[in-house]
Amino acid sequence: MTKTLFVIAHPNIKQSIGSKTIIEAFKKLNMDTEYDNIYELYPDYNINVKAEQEKLLKADAIVLQFPFYWYNSPSLLRKWFEDVLEHGFAYGSNGVALKGKKLIVSFTTGAALNSYSESIPGSCTLDDLVKGFQQLANLCGLEWCGFVATGSITYGVSAGSVASDLEKHAKQLADKINA
Ligand SMILES: Cc1cc2nc3c(=O)[nH]c(=O)nc-3n(C[C@H](O)[C@H](O)[C@H](O)COP(=O)(O)O)c2cc1C
Repeated sequence: MTKTLFVIAHPNIKQSIGSKTIIEAFKKLNMDTEYDNIYELYPDYNINVKAEQEKLLKADAIVLQFPFYWYNSPSLLRKWFEDVLEHGFAYGSNGVALKGKKLIVSFTTGAALNSYSESIPGSCTLDDLVKGFQQLANLCGLEWCGFVATGSITYGVSAGSVASDLEKHAKQLADKINA
């Protein structure tokens, strides 16, 4: 069975509806998964690089799970890339540790997904906005498996009203991992 590393980058997972429900739904799918809650592990941003690299080495697929913050991931995930994806490990002539593993980006947005549309003057699509992750995958020899996004996870939304969207989201992740 494919072994998945689910990197969770939510600054306040206890208050989360989006990421928390996706993770709970994904757990019910009984996939072989290690959950790597980086904000819980590294509240001081002092990342254990070797420990994170060991987790990556064991995985066949990597899911990056986060709430969309300023059209990107929260800052600790950016730092995790900077620290963990070292030259000689993730890229460079000897940096082949991630080669062939799958990369899937999974996030929720406060805005409705249709607000990320070419038909809105000046707006970018989500395909545009995830290009940096895609390019990261290319550099590291990861297989880019695209993204799964659920929108309208915003202030005042009730968990019940978005539960089925988020359960579908979790199932789409499993389908990409198993593809
Ligand atoms: C600092 C910050 C930045 C945000 N930036 C965006 C954004 O760029 N686009 C967007 O659609 N939503 C944005 N949001 C809304 C979050 O994406 C939304 O609250 C989150 O996906 C809900 O998921 P959760 O229930 O797991 O917290 C932002 C929220 C915060 C707190």
